[in-house]
Amino acid sequence: MAHHDLVVIGGGPAGYIAAIRAAQLGKNVACVEREPLLGGTCLRVGCIPSKAMLESSHLYEQARHDLADRGVAVEGVSLDLPKMHTHRTTTVQTLAGGIVGLFEKNGVAHYAGHATFTDGKTIRVAGEEDRTVTADAFLVCTGSTPSTLPGIEIDEERVVSSTGALEFDEVPKRLVVIGAGYIGLELGTVWRRLGAEVIVLEYLDRILPGMDKDLAREALKVCKRQGLDFRLKTKVTGVETTGDGCRVSVEGGDPIEADRVLVAVGRKPNTENLGLDAAGVALTDRGFIEVDDHWQTSAANIYAVGDVVGGAMLAHKAEEEGVACVERLYSGYGHIDYDIIPGVVYTEPEIATVGKTEEQLKDAGVKYRKGKFPFAASGRARAMGDTTGFVKVLADAETDRILGVHMIGAHVGELIAEAGAAMQFGASSEDVARTCHAHPTLSEAFKEACLAVDGRTLNL
Ligand code: NAI
Repeated sequence: MAHHDLVVIGGGPAGYIAAIRAAQLGKNVACVEREPLLGGTCLRVGCIPSKAMLESSHLYEQARHDLADRGVAVEGVSLDLPKMHTHRTTTVQTLAGGIVGLFEKNGVAHYAGHATFTDGKTIRVAGEEDRTVTADAFLVCTGSTPSTLPGIEIDEERVVSSTGALEFDEVPKRLVVIGAGYIGLELGTVWRRLGAEVIVLEYLDRILPGMDKDLAREALKVCKRQGLDFRLKTKVTGVETTGDGCRVSVEGGDPIEADRVLVAVGRKPNTENLGLDAAGVALTDRGFIEVDDHWQTSAANIYAVGDVVGGAMLAHKAEEEGVACVERLYSGYGHIDYDIIPGVVYTEPEIATVGKTEEQLKDAGVKYRKGKFPFAASGRARAMGDTTGFVKVLADAETDRILGVHMIGAHVGELIAEAGAAMQFGASSEDVARTCHAHPTLSEAFKEACLAVDGRTLNL
């Protein structure tokens, strides 16, 4: 029977990163994963394959519509969907192979199979080879799966989750997307660019709940301009599959016919069939694993991080938690600033956010000053021919410390990192305004928005 200092259950961004960090700290570590590929939802059927499709579909759209205006004449542009899928699957396979290499390099043992606790110190791994493994500590990183609504059954063919929506083998004529959150917008825009009519049904009166309202309003405007048909304040009550399509029922309105339906209404934690009861691990009312400030569960020596403990269901939040948890366990120190976790929606243009929204500051009674700079006034954005969007900075009215940064525009998913770093170091908007930014870059828009906090933009 194998024994380890630490056994990590789940090989996604939380688990594989935590396993590597614990091994770097000198521990004898194993990671158990039931899927054939390491990397979790993010790498297999989430962040990475969706970005491959987003990039490819963007290139297709540019070739069809944008290049001619820039003096690049292209003729006979056509879609080779199987090749697009090959790029997606090759990307995933290559990166998953990379994790195998990282495990070998760091001496992390990899057990393939499904782990179940038999007690608080032992798991059974059911795989090609069944084994029993004991450990001094366990870290549960089992992630989440797409949730659905009552009356809607996901078959991953006609009624799909994000997983099925990555793999359509032909472009749907009409795709109905339920939910205008991260997944709805990202995958909705992929299939719109590839030629589908896309109707997005959203229960609330706005899109991207939780994000700064100003940002969400601009995102709605931009996505509408691109041809997405939004129906807000629309409650979906069921989906029926018909001969070769689907009928979506909505409260108080006519049903909507579609040939494919994407259900993107959130995700739920993976806590079933893990033997959590046998191990004495308690769940919260909402079904997440309950943890304290140091990711310790109700069972001694069992920890949990990532989607399965709730909070922002983001790969980078999960990674940070995994690292902080094992560092705390083995070095005594480990910390995350949950106020500085960026969020990026990889539409085109991208939408990126870090820190507090205006609504949160108002609700908390915090006095703030605001600076905003549009990309239309950025020389680089003009030269790129992509002037949509803005950068908005919220700073404490008394101390000038940056409290939140919200961006929509080309490549803002990269620009938001500077805002996060500035906030991590406790920067004021004046600090950023006095930092020399290379010209001409999009990053100057962040500097200008910081200057705008004090009413002294130079280029507007
Ligand atoms: P989400 O929570 O972002 O959005 C779900 C949307 O569905 C909400 O706008 C909600 O109001 C709406 N909704 C709920 N019930 C409805 C109903 N009956 N009818 C109509 N609309 C309804 O969830 P989503 O997009 O499924 O994403 C799941 C998780 O995956 C998110 O927490 C996100 O953090 C993560 N994710 C992150 C990505 C990124 O970082 N770029 C990309 C994709 C997913």
